Amino acid sequence: MIPMVDLKEQFEEIRDEVMEITESVCNSAKFILGPSVTELEKKIAGYIDSGYALGVASGTDALYLSLLAAGIGEGDEVITTPFTFFATVEAILHCRATPVFVDIDPNTFNIDVSRMEDALTKKTRAILPVHLYGYPCNMDELTALADMRSIAVIEDAAQAFGAAINGRKAGGFGAAGCFSFYPSKNLGCYGDGGMIVTSDADFASTVRLLRNHGSSAGYVHERIGINSRLDELQAAILLVKMKNIERYNERRRKNAALYNKLIGSYVQCPGEQNGFRHVFHQYTVRCPKRNNLQEKLKDAGISSVVYYSVPMHLQKAVGFLGYKKGDFPEAEKAADEVLSLPMYPELGERDIERICSVIKESASK
Ligand SMILES: Cc1ncc(COP(=O)(O)O)c(C=O)c1O
Repeated sequence: MIPMVDLKEQFEEIRDEVMEITESVCNSAKFILGPSVTELEKKIAGYIDSGYALGVASGTDALYLSLLAAGIGEGDEVITTPFTFFATVEAILHCRATPVFVDIDPNTFNIDVSRMEDALTKKTRAILPVHLYGYPCNMDELTALADMRSIAVIEDAAQAFGAAINGRKAGGFGAAGCFSFYPSKNLGCYGDGGMIVTSDADFASTVRLLRNHGSSAGYVHERIGINSRLDELQAAILLVKMKNIERYNERRRKNAALYNKLIGSYVQCPGEQNGFRHVFHQYTVRCPKRNNLQEKLKDAGISSVVYYSVPMHLQKAVGFLGYKKGDFPEAEKAADEVLSLPMYPELGERDIERICSVIKESASK
């Protein structure tokens, strides 16, 4: 069986370092927001070139806390994509704001900035683009549109650690960038974890308060926050992985290039615009006979997953928003046609060749 991700293989590579650092954290008996978190925050702020980075408990919390810190609340509208993981939309709703969807670009699967103008209203207070599958949204156009109207941009970069446009990292364009360290992410820990990056000192101070019950000093609470702190063990493990992140992402890119070469004429493969760096959190192809292809792969012992089979506007949980089928045809079509194939840094050439031969055979029938 070829899995979507093999975290065991990566662990074997870094086992000694991880075990050593785990023991050292346990010996220190500092488990929450300690020196490893501070060191990781510094490293990631430097990597993204953002000035500040704040560890939080998950990517979902990173989104929620960033929206809160941007002052988003009841009566506000937040523009986002209907083609994402549900956490993006949940974060908006937890702030009591309203998600307003804009359809996607069928080539990149990211929000189509050229359609955004129509969705803007007097209530629009933020735009929440998602760098889906590890491919950056068109941030130059998006931030230009937001800046003209003083609308905050909060980037969902959960899937895009290391993605970039002309060397500028995803997560570093808006008022805040949100990362997830869920284990299978490009930079993943061994539990839940997340990070907010920002270049704004006040925004960083607000997030620092909000992630820790609104408290700046022992048992003194300036605001109502939540408990969303990154723990030391996760931060220490992430510091080990951070040393290898460029190598991991380059291996993903190499694997994607091989996929593209082998199946480029059989299915629609992911591309890259000039200057854009895709980090292939997912390697996602598009094909009209998707279900048939997935069945063939399964028969051959190859995993594949549909990210995402139901677009956000058609999710039962948000039925009260009143959207209906047909509202975002590109997102709906993508949901019917996308298929993500195995992708991780350690995936071997032989495996990719085997996967591609099944795809070629299935597509030529
Ligand atoms: C696009 C996107 N946003 C947000 C999240 C939420 O991150 P987490 O699982 O760390 O809460 C994820 C995680 O899968 C994601 O893919």
